Amino acid sequence: MDRPIFLVGFMGSGKTTWGKKLANHLGLMFVDLDQVIVQRIGMSIPAYFERYGEQRFREIESQLLKEQGGLPAVISTGGGSPCFFDNMQWILQNGLAIYLHLTPKALYNRLQQSNIAARPALKGLAGEALLHFIEEKLREREPFYKQSQIHIDQINTSLEAIGQSIESYEKSI
Ligand code: S3P
Repeated sequence: MDRPIFLVGFMGSGKTTWGKKLANHLGLMFVDLDQVIVQRIGMSIPAYFERYGEQRFREIESQLLKEQGGLPAVISTGGGSPCFFDNMQWILQNGLAIYLHLTPKALYNRLQQSNIAARPALKGLAGEALLHFIEEKLREREPFYKQSQIHIDQINTSLEAIGQSIESYEKSI
């Protein structure tokens, strides 16, 4: 692999968890874009949203995403990363994108068990309102995620299967 692998998908789809495992499996470095942003802005993402708003966050996110070109690594992106500016186009031109697909209900179950406060986009949401938000937001974002070269349905996958999908894709191009 001579370019980065970008894991894309909704919040709670397991980008960081799979990213770490995949990097380890492929012997590549792992980069979490949210962590890169936190290091650069010097505060948590919710604190940054609160103080400067989403627009400024998206500008920094886009800038830092585009600093990740060149080096082979596995990079987990934020749920919104591919959906702003020309970010998805840039990802496709500079790396290999893998979409980690889960249904709204599965995302809901996972997000309910996670720390909602760490995700400003989900602030104040619970129960039916959270499920509805996920369905709507996913509908809006999927056209971006679906441009990925590789789609993984997480219900029936394994590290080996993801590795094989990457290998077959690389052979096909
Ligand atoms: C966001 C997802 C978050 C983070 C930020 C915004 C979003 O990343 O980038 O809170 O708009 O979907 P995760 O997908 O890792 O939660």
